[in-house]
Amino acid sequence: MALLTRTGAPYSRILGVGKALPSRVVDNEEMCTYIDSSDEWIRKRTGIVERRWVAEGESVETLARDASLEAIANSGISAADIDLVIVSTVSYFHQTPGLAPKLAHELGAVGAAAYDISAACAGFSYAVAQADALIRAGAATHALIVGAETLSKLTDLSDRSTAFLFADGAGAAVIGPSEVNGVSPVVWGSDGEGGPSIQQTMDWAGAVQDNAWPYIAMDGQHVFRWATGFVATAALDVLAQSGLTADDLDAFIPHQANNRITDAMLRQLKLPKHVKVARSIIRYGNNSAASIPIAMSEMLATGEAKSGDTALIIGFGAGLVYAGQIITLP
Ligand SMILES: CC(C)(COP(=O)(O)OP(=O)(O)OC[C@H]1O[C@@H](n2cnc3c(N)ncnc32)[C@H](O)[C@@H]1OP(=O)(O)O)[C@@H](O)C(=O)NCCC(=O)NCCS
Repeated sequence: MALLTRTGAPYSRILGVGKALPSRVVDNEEMCTYIDSSDEWIRKRTGIVERRWVAEGESVETLARDASLEAIANSGISAADIDLVIVSTVSYFHQTPGLAPKLAHELGAVGAAAYDISAACAGFSYAVAQADALIRAGAATHALIVGAETLSKLTDLSDRSTAFLFADGAGAAVIGPSEVNGVSPVVWGSDGEGGPSIQQTMDWAGAVQDNAWPYIAMDGQHVFRWATGFVATAALDVLAQSGLTADDLDAFIPHQANNRITDAMLRQLKLPKHVKVARSIIRYGNNSAASIPIAMSEMLATGEAKSGDTALIIGFGAGLVYAGQIITLP
């Protein structure tokens, strides 16, 4: 007996995006009260002028909810139409159940399939790949994907090699069926051998045993070389696999890891002058899975990018993992 199968929409596209930033602004002057550094050094090495950390009453859950509400409002569908919720986070400290089922319930996406993924700063592009594939396979119709992080909780404020970099925030997107293609094939992968170059200093069991708290430790130079070499080449592959050239792009929205990494990628990609480049790291720092949808929301809100524009997105980070696509902006 042959099993039945299902097929879904011919294509998918992003219908709406949203963002949520915590209220507490931490500028470089405040940062230099924690570490031996300077505003000039931080700006020059990363581009960061200030970052956001959660304040009293704010959490990865409230950020995920607020970004989702904005994305749903911008998508023109109702929460009840969402049948898939994927949350990418490395800073939701409740091991089980995940954040996604709770979020689905809170938003009114009743009964939606819901799960968390852990793909660090590549998480948004990983979730885009999954939502797109599941919609085309007929396993979902409207997906809510969320990158939500409170990396401030995993940052050692005495570590001058990381403290200035990491930040909090959430970004979300609704992806739905489409008659024209709005999401290219994904280019993605991992390099577990490079994993120790950004990692949590200990696991939770070890932390409890030692009465300690884990932080994210980083070999900045290793990550820098990998991102500006291997990942930049992967970005070129995204273009090739989409059948586009750099001239076809309107916007480049890489993970907001570091402005110098973005600059090095720009040189490799040889992007023409008309391509708008996301720089939200300047005001929001590196908020991991949240950074791409936050930057996208902001570029659309300020008019720097517009609906229908063609954008290259690429995420990369702890794992090491990376993923990129070309998408049509909602
Ligand atoms: C983190 C990063 C900014 C550090 O810059 P770097 O040039 O590699 O820094 P180094 O550790 O080599 O130190 C260079 C100098 O800066 C100094 N320095 C290091 N951290 C400093 C700080 N926070 N403030 C001021 N000076 C600092 C060092 O003491 C050293 O001084 P010296 O030349 O007098 O010896 C850089 O490696 C980087 O951008 N890496 C990528 C990280 C990233 O994006 N991660 C997220 C990926 S998701």
